[in-house]
Amino acid sequence: MISKKTIAEIFDKMAVEDIVGDFVHLKKRGVNLLGLCPFHNEKTPSFTVSPSKNIYKCFGCGKGGNGIDFLMEHEAMSYPEALRYVARIYNIEIEEDYNKEEDIIEFQHREALQIINKFAAEFFSNELNNTDKGKSIGLSYLKDRGFIEKTIKSFELGFAPSHPRDKLTTKAKEAGHKEERLKELGLSNQYGNDFFFDRIIFPIHSLSGKPIAFAGRILKKNVKAPKYLNSPESEIYHKRKVLYGMHLAKKEIRAKDLCFLVEGYTDVMMLHQNNIENVVATSGTSLTTEQIRLIKRYSKNACLIFDGDQAGIKASLRGIDLLLEEGMDVQVLPLPEEHDPDSFIQSVGHNRFTEYFEERAQDFLFYKAELSRQTAKNDPVNASQAIQDLVTSISKIEDTIKRHLYIKETAKLMSVPEELLLEELNNKLDKQFNKKRSERLKEVRKTSQEKRETSKDKSKDAASTLLEKDILRILIQHGEKSVDEDQNVASFVIENISDVIELIENENFKKVLNIFIEHYNESKVPTFAFLTQQTAPEIRKTVIDIHEGKYDSQYSKNWIDMWDMGLQTQPMPDENQKKDALEALMRFKLNKATKLCRENLELIKQYEQEEDAEELMKHLQIQKKLTEIRNVFAKEFKTIVLK
Ligand code: UTP
Ligand code: MN
Repeated sequence: MISKKTIAEIFDKMAVEDIVGDFVHLKKRGVNLLGLCPFHNEKTPSFTVSPSKNIYKCFGCGKGGNGIDFLMEHEAMSYPEALRYVARIYNIEIEEDYNKEEDIIEFQHREALQIINKFAAEFFSNELNNTDKGKSIGLSYLKDRGFIEKTIKSFELGFAPSHPRDKLTTKAKEAGHKEERLKELGLSNQYGNDFFFDRIIFPIHSLSGKPIAFAGRILKKNVKAPKYLNSPESEIYHKRKVLYGMHLAKKEIRAKDLCFLVEGYTDVMMLHQNNIENVVATSGTSLTTEQIRLIKRYSKNACLIFDGDQAGIKASLRGIDLLLEEGMDVQVLPLPEEHDPDSFIQSVGHNRFTEYFEERAQDFLFYKAELSRQTAKNDPVNASQAIQDLVTSISKIEDTIKRHLYIKETAKLMSVPEELLLEELNNKLDKQFNKKRSERLKEVRKTSQEKRETSKDKSKDAASTLLEKDILRILIQHGEKSVDEDQNVASFVIENISDVIELIENENFKKVLNIFIEHYNESKVPTFAFLTQQTAPEIRKTVIDIHEGKYDSQYSKNWIDMWDMGLQTQPMPDENQKKDALEALMRFKLNKATKLCRENLELIKQYEQEEDAEELMKHLQIQKKLTEIRNVFAKEFKTIVLK
C-alpha cells in the first residue's frame, strides 16, 4: 500500500496539464488549456484543462477529474498504478506502508493480473539473456536476424524455455501468484503447463509501457505449429484497442505528425532499430476503429507499409475505408515484391528508406485506383466493380473539396466521364445519409419514448435532487467564506442540516456531506483540492460536477412559484452567503416536508378506500403534524426570502 504521506506528496506535485498533456494535444486558451476530447469523438475541442483548479473537464461528454482520474479513465490504470505512474514522472519516492495481512490476494484483480504479467515478462527476459538455452537458441536467432542488443532490450524480448514444461507456471506459483490467474492470462494451459514454450517472446505493451499480453514466435522452420501464438483477451488485454509498439512510438508520431503502420512485430522493431520510431503494427489483423482513434490522438496522417506480395497488398486495402471515415489522411508505401518492411530497411538503411518514402509514398486512393486499373484492364466486369469500390472509398471522405478532387483524378485514371462518377458518388452519399438519418431518428424516438415514460417521477425527483445539489454547491463553492464574524458557511450549513440529514436522497451527495461533517467536527473545512483527491471516484466526480456545473442554482425567489420548486436562472449574490445558505436549506426542508405530506395523503386515500378506520385516524393525525411543520418551514422561508 502506498503511504498516505506519499499520496499527499503526489497530489501536491502533480500538475494536471503535465499528465494530460502527454496524451492530448493541448493549446492555451486564456487561463485554461483546450484540446480534442480523448473520451469521445469530436471535431471542435471542448476538452478543458484548468491548471489553477488542477482538473480537466470535457463540456462535450461530461468526463472530468484530476490527473489520477485521467490516467484511470484514459489508460485504464488502477488507482495505485496511476499514483505510481505520477510518482515516477515527478521523481517522488514511494513509501509503502505495507501490511503483511494484506497480501497479493487482497489486491484488485486487474492489479494482480498486471503484476503477474510483469513477473512473466521478467521471467522470459531472464531466460533469453541469462540462460544457456536462451542465449544459444533465442539470442543467437535474434542476432542472426540482425537485431542488436539495444533493440532487444527496448522491446523487452524474451524466451520461453521448453524444459521443464511448467517452468514459468511453477515459479509464478512459488512467488504467490494464483494458477487460475495464470490461466486467465493464457500463461498456463489447462494442465498447469506453460502455454508458451520454445518460442521467442514479444511482450505487448499498454500505452504506458506495461506488458499486457505476449506473442510467441516459433523458432523451428517447417513445423505445423502456428508461427505466432498470442495471449488470449483478458481483463487487461483488449486486442481491438492495442497497437504493437505504440508505447515507444507515440512521442515520435506526434513529433513527425505521421504514423507508419506495418503488419509485423519484427517490422516495427527493425524500423525502430534504424531510427524510424514513429511506427506501430496491426499484428496481422484488420485495423479497428479503436486503433485508428488511438493513432489519431497523436497524428491524423498514416502511412501503410505492407509487404510487397499479393497478401500484403490485400491487407493494405482492408480497413482503409475505416481510416478515411475517421478522417485520417492515408498514404501507402508499396515495397518491392520480395520485401517486407523488416527486410527492406535492412537492405537499404535509414537514409535510403527515407528517400524512398519521399519518392514513392502515394495517396491511398491513387494507389487503389492504380491497382484497380491494372486488374481491370481487360475485364469490363471487374472494371465496373473496381470503380464502384473506389467511389465507395471516396464517399467516406468528409471533406467535400477533397472528394471532388479525388473524383476528378479517378475519372482521369480510369478513363470514365467525371459526371458518371459524380452521379455514383451522390447516390452513395444519399444512401449513407438516409441510413444515418434513420438511425438517428430511431434513436430520438427511443429516447423520447423513454423520457415520456419516466418524466412524471423524474420531474419530482429532479426538484429534490437539485435542492440537495444546491446545498452541496454552497458548501463546495463557499464553505470557507464567513456568514458572520465567527462562523463560516460550512459550519452554518452543517448545523442547520444535521437534524434532517437522513432525508438526503442522493447517496453520493450524502458521502460528500459526510466529509464536510467530519471536518466540521475538527473545526475545519475541506478544500476543493482535498475533495478532488478522495479515493472514491464517485466523490471526486460529484464534487467536480457540482463545482463546474452551471446548475441553475437559483430557484425562484417568488414565494408562490416556490411550491412548484420552479427553476429560474439568476446570478448568485456572492456577498450574501448567509441568506443564500439559509434559503437553500429552507427550500430543501420545505420540499421534503411537502413531499412527506403528499406521500402521507396518498396513504390516507388508500386507507379510506380500504375502510381501515384505525390506520386512517393515525395518518390523519400525522398529516396534521406534517402540515404544521411544513407551514413553519414555509413561514420561515418567506421571512428569509422577503428579508
Ligand atoms: P508475418 O508472417 O508477416 O510475420 O505476420 P512477421 O511479423 O514478419 O514475423 P517474422 O518476420 O516472420 O518473424 C505479420 C503479423 O501477423 C501476426 C503477427 O502479429 C505478425 O507479426 N501473425 C502472423 C500472427 O498473429 N500469427 C501467425 O501465425 C502469423
Ligand atoms: Mn517478417
